[in-house]
Amino acid sequence: MNGNAGKSRRPFTFFGGKGGTGKTTCATAYAVWLASIGRRTLLVSTDPAHSLSDALGVPLSDKILPVCDNLWGIEIDAALEAKRYIGDIQDKMLSIVSPVIVDEIRRQMEIAYMSPGAEEAAIFDKFVELMEDLGNPWDAIVFDTAPTGHTLRLLSLPEILGTWIDNLIAKRRKSLELFKMAGRFEKDLMKRAMEDPVIESLTRRQKKFEKSRQYLTDSASSTFIFVLNAEKMPILETARAIELLEKYKIPVGGVIVNRVIPPEAGEFFAERLIAQEEYLRDIERRFGSKKIVRLPLLRSDVQGMKQVNVIADLIGEIDA
Ligand SMILES: Nc1ncnc2c1ncn2[C@@H]1O[C@H](COP(=O)(O)OP(=O)(O)OP(=O)(O)O)[C@@H](O)[C@H]1O
Ligand SMILES: [Mg+2]
Repeated sequence: MNGNAGKSRRPFTFFGGKGGTGKTTCATAYAVWLASIGRRTLLVSTDPAHSLSDALGVPLSDKILPVCDNLWGIEIDAALEAKRYIGDIQDKMLSIVSPVIVDEIRRQMEIAYMSPGAEEAAIFDKFVELMEDLGNPWDAIVFDTAPTGHTLRLLSLPEILGTWIDNLIAKRRKSLELFKMAGRFEKDLMKRAMEDPVIESLTRRQKKFEKSRQYLTDSASSTFIFVLNAEKMPILETARAIELLEKYKIPVGGVIVNRVIPPEAGEFFAERLIAQEEYLRDIERRFGSKKIVRLPLLRSDVQGMKQVNVIADLIGEIDA
C-alpha cells in the first residue's frame, strides 16, 4: 500500500454527497489508508443501514471497537442518541424553578428540534464529543455522514444552535435576576439562583458548539470531501453543497468521482462513456480548484477488506 504519503495535517475528515454515491465506501477506504500509514484512526458512521460493518466485513456497534491495526470504528445509532440527548436536557429541565421559563425553554427546544431535527442535533453532539477526544488514543477521525441535505444542516448547526443558546441564556439570566431579588428574603431561593443547573448546562453546550465551529471552519483541523458520480444531478447537487459549506466557511478539500466507467468496459458502455467524458470535463471545470480523485467502477460491490484496500490505494491521493 501507498506508504509514502506522509501525515495529513488535518485530523477531521468528513465525507458527504448524494445518497448511494459511495460515501461509506470512500470514508472506509480513506480510514483504512490512514491506518496503513500509521495514523491511529477512528471511523465514524451515522448510517442506519450498518453499511460500515458491511464494507469492512467487521461487525460494529454504538461503542468504539477495534477493526485492525491503527483502526477503530463506531456506528452511531441516531435514534438512540436522540433519546439520550433529549433525556439529558429534560433531566436538567426538571430542576428548573420557574414554570414560566420551563415553557419558554420547551418552546425554544421544539423550534430548534423541528428545524434541524432531533436526531441530527444528537449526532452532532456525539460528533463534537468524539472530536474533543482527539489524541485519546486516535489522531485522525473520519466521518461518514448522511446524504447531502442532512449533512449540511448538521454542519450549519453550530450557527443555529449558537444563537439559540445565547437567547436561552439571556432569558434565563433575566429570570434569575428576579429570583435573586426575591431571594434576598429567602435563603433557599438565593442558593438555587446562584447554582443554576440550567445556565451551567447551556453554557457547557454553548462552549461545545463554539469549539466545534472552530474545528469545522479551521482548514488545519477539518476537511470536507464530496463523493459524486459523473452524472448530471450529482454534479449540480455537489456544486450547491460546496457553495453552502463555503458560505459557512467550512473548507472543502476534495471531490471523489466514484464509479468511473473504465475505457475497457466494452461496447455495451460505449454511449455512456461518451456522456461520462463530458461530465468529467464539467467536474474539472467546476471543481478544478480542489483535489479531484477518480475511482473506477469495480466489477462487484466493495465489501470486505480486500476490496476496500483496492479503493484505499487510490484514495490516499485525496490527501496529497
Ligand atoms: N467504485 C465502486 N465500484 C463498485 N461498487 C461500488 C463502488 N463504490 C461503491 N460501490 C457499492 O455501491 C453501494 C453504495 O455505496 P455506499 O454504501 O458507499 O454509498 P453511500 O453514499 O454511503 O450510500 P448511502 O447514501 O445510502 O449512505 C455499495 O454496495 C458499495 O459497495
Ligand atoms: Mg452510506
